[in-house]
Amino acid sequence: MIKALSTEKRIVVCVGPGGVGKTTTAAAFAALAAAAGRKTLVSTIDPAPRLADALGVPLTADPTPVPAEVGRALGIEPGRLYVARLDTARAFAALVEEQVSDPAMRRRIFDNPIYRQITTTLTGSQEYAATLALYDIVHRNEFDLVVLDTPPTAHALDFLEAPRRIAEAISSPAIKWFVKPAEGARFSLQRLRAGSAVVLGRLAKFVGSRFMEDIAAFLTDFQVVLGGFLLRAETIGKLLRQPDVAFLLVLAPEGPAVDEALYFQKRLTESGVPLAAFVANRVHPRPGSTDAGEIARSLRARPELVGVSDAALDATAERLARTALDFQHLTDGERRELQRLAAAAPGIPVLEVPLLDHDVASLAALRTVGAFLDRGGDGPASP
Ligand SMILES: Nc1ncnc2c1ncn2[C@@H]1O[C@H](COP(=O)(O)OP(=O)(O)OP(=O)(O)O)[C@@H](O)[C@H]1O
Ligand SMILES: [Mg+2]
Repeated sequence: MIKALSTEKRIVVCVGPGGVGKTTTAAAFAALAAAAGRKTLVSTIDPAPRLADALGVPLTADPTPVPAEVGRALGIEPGRLYVARLDTARAFAALVEEQVSDPAMRRRIFDNPIYRQITTTLTGSQEYAATLALYDIVHRNEFDLVVLDTPPTAHALDFLEAPRRIAEAISSPAIKWFVKPAEGARFSLQRLRAGSAVVLGRLAKFVGSRFMEDIAAFLTDFQVVLGGFLLRAETIGKLLRQPDVAFLLVLAPEGPAVDEALYFQKRLTESGVPLAAFVANRVHPRPGSTDAGEIARSLRARPELVGVSDAALDATAERLARTALDFQHLTDGERRELQRLAAAAPGIPVLEVPLLDHDVASLAALRTVGAFLDRGGDGPASP
């Protein structure tokens, strides 16, 4: 099933809440697709430094092919796997540059503190930037497949909704009000203080008129790009709803995560984007045995424990059995949650990736994750 995704789709987006394994899944999936022969770009967002090291390329906004030896270790022909990193500032700047030809106006926009605020700290700005970067990459048309990692949002839906939310934020009546209504009429505090603007006038006193003027100056210039932002948001909204786009939702195998995943799947379907698969990451492996007697027997069979007293071995076996039992309860709980997920979303595969002993920070570990994705959760043939 993951093979079909990696050969048929043009864009695969990995979404999910913070820290679940989106970047890992994106990299492992991209490596699979590249190994299957597709020219693939994985656009990452702040990958763990050791994973970035393992990929062996300086991560910049420009797609860079992984070195030949990295490709070999991943079973990939040269020139098939490219890596880039999302540069939020650059994604916004590119859009401004595209819309504004006057260098002085560009400078004013870039230097305005409000511009920096909107493009860095406004909720959804990083998600929107990721979609802007995606748009550029897709338009350059250099890749068969783009695998998109998404920012560590609290909620998986934030990504899909970012273009619309940004569009709404910048076209909201409150913001429009600031923008000069007619040619030549510069923003003034007079206007703020007039009539219904009493509240805003107070605000200006409170935050300082400098701040209000920054907003007004920025929004006046920004009118030029506002149309461009809105249009781009709409285009991206459509782009993400094409049939050659697939979403992978990464989640932890836990109750609240399953609830959230089902909610996301429902919303995706409502907005016309079927979810391709769930990736249940860091599933705990089941313990071998919970029987103290059996554990004691296997401890006795270990050459390195020869000479340890029976009493000490039995006591250790007791403790291990208790831990194993706790562990079994945990894995039983995870199993139930994943069954609930599968039952509530029939037809959508649940790909299971187990919790590995170490972080996924090496090419070997990336391959292991890929092998689990590839087998739809049954795990690689040989351990
Ligand atoms: N199956 C796994 N077994 C062990 N470690 C894992 C597994 N999957 C991911 N990790 C580790 O968990 C950490 C978080 O993974 P990752 O960076 O992929 O998550 P993320 O969803 O991209 O996080 P963020 O939302 O912060 O961007 C990393 O250190 C990664 O190596
Ligand atoms: Mg990440």
